[in-house]
Amino acid sequence: MNRILTTCAVLLLVGASPLAAAGGDIKNGQTKAEICASCHGADGNSTSPEFPKLAGQHADYIVRALTDYQTGKRSNAIMQGFVANLSQQDMRDLAAYFASQPGSLFTPTNY
Ligand code: HEC
Repeated sequence: MNRILTTCAVLLLVGASPLAAAGGDIKNGQTKAEICASCHGADGNSTSPEFPKLAGQHADYIVRALTDYQTGKRSNAIMQGFVANLSQQDMRDLAAYFASQPGSLFTPTNY
């Protein structure tokens, strides 16, 4: 039983690190996010229901969404135009910035 609990604790700790492992630079991301502000808000807290909130979103999720728009796996004419020239590093920086912003989206950390 104790061994199972220890294993769970270790898995939780390992599971907590992908956010940092995304390798994005928050400051660079903030600069790159200027063109996103008109729809998603300067800090990712969009005020329109048409545009998803990005503040506090998982960095992994944001990178995945941007990648999927770029490859066409996720189809949206507006976003497709904005991701066309983004590199993987751009996506990681943008994701790090928006993930670091306080907002109404949240990640439970103490379950
Ligand atoms: C002209 C408005 C507009 C701009 C500018 C814009 N977006 Fe978006 N974005 C949208 C819309 C609309 C959606 C929802 C598309 C859909 O339904 O998939 C979206 C969706 C997203 C999503 C998926 C969110 C989710 O919850 O699944 C991400 C991530 C995202 N945008 C990031 C960005 C980034 C980063 C930039 C700047 C480089 C940017 N967007 C610029 C309109 C915009």
